[in-house]
Amino acid sequence: MVERITIDHVGHRGDGVSLTTRDAIYVPYTLGGESVEVGHVAGHPDRRKLLAVDVASPERVEPFCPHFGICGGCAIQHWAADPYHAWKRNIVVETLAQAGIDCDVAPLVDAHGAGRRRITLHGRFGTHDVLKVGFSAAGSHDVIPIHRCPILDPALEGALDAAWALAEPLTSKMPVTKPLDIQVTATASGLDVDLRGSGPLPTPLVTALSRVAEQHRLARLTRHGELVLQRLPPTVRMARAEVTLPPGSFLQATVAGEETLAALVAERVGKAKEVLDLFCGVGPFGLRLAEKARVTAYDNDAGAIAALAKAARTPGLKPIKAETRDLFRRPLVPPELRDFDAVVFDPPRQGAQAQALKLAASKVPVVIAVSCNVATFARDARLLIDGGYRIETVVPVDQFRHTPHVELVARFTR
Ligand SMILES: C[S@@+](CC[C@H](N)C(=O)[O-])C[C@H]1O[C@@H](n2cnc3c(N)ncnc32)[C@H](O)[C@@H]1O
Repeated sequence: MVERITIDHVGHRGDGVSLTTRDAIYVPYTLGGESVEVGHVAGHPDRRKLLAVDVASPERVEPFCPHFGICGGCAIQHWAADPYHAWKRNIVVETLAQAGIDCDVAPLVDAHGAGRRRITLHGRFGTHDVLKVGFSAAGSHDVIPIHRCPILDPALEGALDAAWALAEPLTSKMPVTKPLDIQVTATASGLDVDLRGSGPLPTPLVTALSRVAEQHRLARLTRHGELVLQRLPPTVRMARAEVTLPPGSFLQATVAGEETLAALVAERVGKAKEVLDLFCGVGPFGLRLAEKARVTAYDNDAGAIAALAKAARTPGLKPIKAETRDLFRRPLVPPELRDFDAVVFDPPRQGAQAQALKLAASKVPVVIAVSCNVATFARDARLLIDGGYRIETVVPVDQFRHTPHVELVARFTR
């Protein structure tokens, strides 16, 4: 059944929201003010599929990717830049206001730069034994075959060809109940690929994979983090340090994103001499802060900590102490926080509730939060504010352009 509805606004997940009926209806790829024809989506009474735009918003623009609307990688390519920026900033403004956090929010900082330097593709054999390698379809696990993606950093050139070539021997010879995940990262020494989901492999198949890795001149190929072949150590530069990436460790999605977040953090750390870098990963903040301050860094990823400890030996840096620690289960407690002038924390999407509680009870003069989830940030910020900290202007950062994801940096002082 075809319905005609009007879209009120774009919601926090990037879908158009219609308030025509009593309950909100969500329609992907639509904009506020548009009249659209929509169809039902089985099993989702609050969602509709866009069939046609009868009256388009003046803010509507032509998407630049032929896969847009089918591939689940991008939610928004059909909106002009200015209203898109305002919407993304507003996600932060509204979420903080709903949590009762009263603060200024700066204009959105664009950090797409040259594009994504890391992607996870999926490989799967479809009907009629046809291999599909690409991204998941919007709202489903179907794989949309992709041979070109315009939002990638040119340094990922060859990533899609290599992914197709690696998936071919694996998926054809194995009963894959779930898709093969192919994570590709652009590094200074070439592409670094980690395969996941293939299960144990017979030796001839591993040999076949090595051959593909050689043919595509990959820097390194790993499977579930285990080395298959390394031509060159995959490295990334973080200020003056060269970091060898451990397979599977976290890395900011764009170079511009990492540099923007690190610069905002450094500005807010200011002249602090003793800095704590919590949820430090391979050290994009700590390695830059160590230009001027002594750094102590914690993360629960032992590989990331080992990589940071090695990069910390770069001549000219102040000392960096890096240790593995689970900060959800064993957050640093006030006596351990006593000697730091500034604490930076950049947790995963779940936030850092346990650590925020301990920080709230500490006397650390400056706390800087970096977050990729404004809802959990708001919860943790509330703990700090209730503990006596004042929040300064929050800066939203757009690393994941064309998606509803937004990062932010905030400073708290007491
Ligand atoms: C958003 S990433 C940030 C990493 C780093 N600051 C960066 O910008 O690349 C979050 C980090 O939290 C770490 N992490 C996740 N759960 C953790 C836990 N329970 N304890 C300590 N670190 C954890 C991850 O290994 C990851 O490095």
